[in-house]
Amino acid sequence: MTERNRLRIAVQKSGRLCEGSMELLKAIGVKLSIRDRLLIAHATNLPIDLLRVRDDDIPGLVMDGVVDLGFIGENELEEKMLERQAQGKQFQYKTLERLEFGGCRLSLAVPNEMDYQSVQSLQGKKVATTYPFLLERFFREQNVNAKAVMLNGSVEVAPRAGLADAICDLVSTGATLEANGLVEKDVIFRSKAVLIQRGGEMPDGKQQLIDKLLTRINGVMQARE
Ligand code: PRP
Ligand code: ZN
Ligand code: MG
Repeated sequence: MTERNRLRIAVQKSGRLCEGSMELLKAIGVKLSIRDRLLIAHATNLPIDLLRVRDDDIPGLVMDGVVDLGFIGENELEEKMLERQAQGKQFQYKTLERLEFGGCRLSLAVPNEMDYQSVQSLQGKKVATTYPFLLERFFREQNVNAKAVMLNGSVEVAPRAGLADAICDLVSTGATLEANGLVEKDVIFRSKAVLIQRGGEMPDGKQQLIDKLLTRINGVMQARE
């Protein structure tokens, strides 16, 4: 296969999804030589290139057809879809497999001392988050008039810094919330890792390789059940 015909897979460079994605690729026989600082890694035994990027970039790379496959959290995927919908941009992709790693929840959390009865207690308040579209959809569904304040990082310090009254962020162990004097109140989205494929035509060779990888993924998942 020529360079253009190599299958391009996007994975998170570091973070929640990274280990699970790399382990799964290894388990299905994709041999990689990863050099830490490089964005791209070539498989040595299959026509596959790995793009190691920030997880927030992965849904867009797949939706724009820049990569063929991506390992991504459903939270990032849904947020990007809502963002593109709002902008009238295209967001084509298909989900190939729901995976058993990268589990987390997107939750509303408030300072310990705040009187919180229900999400209605956030009426008129500001809520810091990296997921404004998911949060605003939730507020709309709940008929709550609150404002999402977008922060790409350090969301958990926003209330203490006086930037917001509450936060809406990813939680897995809860350690980050606890360390910052915050209490989890409502889960607004539950997420796991998924494997997605770009829309559009796939050359035969690539599609066959994808099918082969999927068969192996199913085998590995069944063996782990
Ligand atoms: C999320 C979230 C918290 C942390 C919570 O960050 O923003 O920082 O995980 O996890 P815990 O409940 O186990 O303490 P993430 O790992 O997604 O990194 P990012 O914010 O840099 O994407
Ligand atoms: Zn190269
Ligand atoms: Mg974080």
